[in-house]
Amino acid sequence: MAAESTAVPDTSASATSVSSAAPPTHASVLREPVVSTPSLVADDGPVVFDVDQLNVYYRDFRAVRDVSLQVHQHEITAFIGPSGCGKTTVLRCFNRMNDLIDGCRVTGGLAYHGVDLYDDRVDAVEVRKRIGMVFQKPNPFPKSIYDNVAFGPKINGTKKKGELDDVVESALTRAALWDEVKDRLGKSAMGMSGGQQQRLCIARTIAGDPEVVLMDEPCSALDPIATARIEDLMQELKSDYTIVIVTHNMQQAARVSDRTAFFTAEVHSETDTRTGLLVEYDRTDKIFSNPSDERTENYVTGRFG
Ligand SMILES: Nc1ncnc2c1ncn2[C@@H]1O[C@H](COP(=O)(O)OP(=O)(O)O)[C@@H](O)[C@H]1O
Ligand SMILES: [Mg+2]
Repeated sequence: MAAESTAVPDTSASATSVSSAAPPTHASVLREPVVSTPSLVADDGPVVFDVDQLNVYYRDFRAVRDVSLQVHQHEITAFIGPSGCGKTTVLRCFNRMNDLIDGCRVTGGLAYHGVDLYDDRVDAVEVRKRIGMVFQKPNPFPKSIYDNVAFGPKINGTKKKGELDDVVESALTRAALWDEVKDRLGKSAMGMSGGQQQRLCIARTIAGDPEVVLMDEPCSALDPIATARIEDLMQELKSDYTIVIVTHNMQQAARVSDRTAFFTAEVHSETDTRTGLLVEYDRTDKIFSNPSDERTENYVTGRFG
């Protein structure tokens, strides 16, 4: 009691460590608890990604310019637009996959829960754990179904067989694949159908326990039935994850997404190059029923692209 009533400034370790905190060391930035930025609009979820005037270059070539948009938690955000307008390029910025491309450079702001993803102190490997990616062509490893899903958790240190079994079952269940594969977990993933392989890749991503799942045209190699299953799956997953999907299929964007970003490309006739840009970003029903920009209207009504 006596100590509490004195007027001596609090010099306890915790108070000192706040006031004289060293800058976060390499990789620590993303280890802090995720604090969501509250949205200004009441019915919008918290902002997960805040993209501000983003530009992406491949060496001297500016592939995309001036992209600004916000991705909200537990929503599906779709990127649509003609081929070559930069949808994949922008998507790859969200988990720093562009780091792996020689000559690729990103400028402008890209904040993930308020943390600049391109801050020098941010560890790209940690970023990719939190922000998983599913690719256009299903890319299972040439391993068993079980080992595909257990791959990430094993690397991350989940070694106990019982725990791994639980992670594998849970991820396969969430990816709507468990019932189809539970009796052949030891069989090669290469023997699965394309649709099953893509759900396996989704299970593999989920098993890494990400917050966000990026999907780049995940259905483009699939038949309509497998596509419908993946679309249903996305709807189920969005209560647990935030999803950003690139699709060339406008009907798919209209069916599954909450918000849609329409990109196009401007042509520079002098250099015969094209730069992608974001034309319009809004709620999906608005984009498809009453877009603000004539270019969006022409695209969604099929008059262009
Ligand atoms: N690895 C790369 N190196 C150089 N240019 C690239 C690379 N990837 C994409 N581009 C160029 O960037 C532009 C946008 O491509 P991309 O993002 O793939 O468009 P989309 O996904 O909308 O079809 C295109 O002009 C493309 O040629
Ligand atoms: Mg693409």
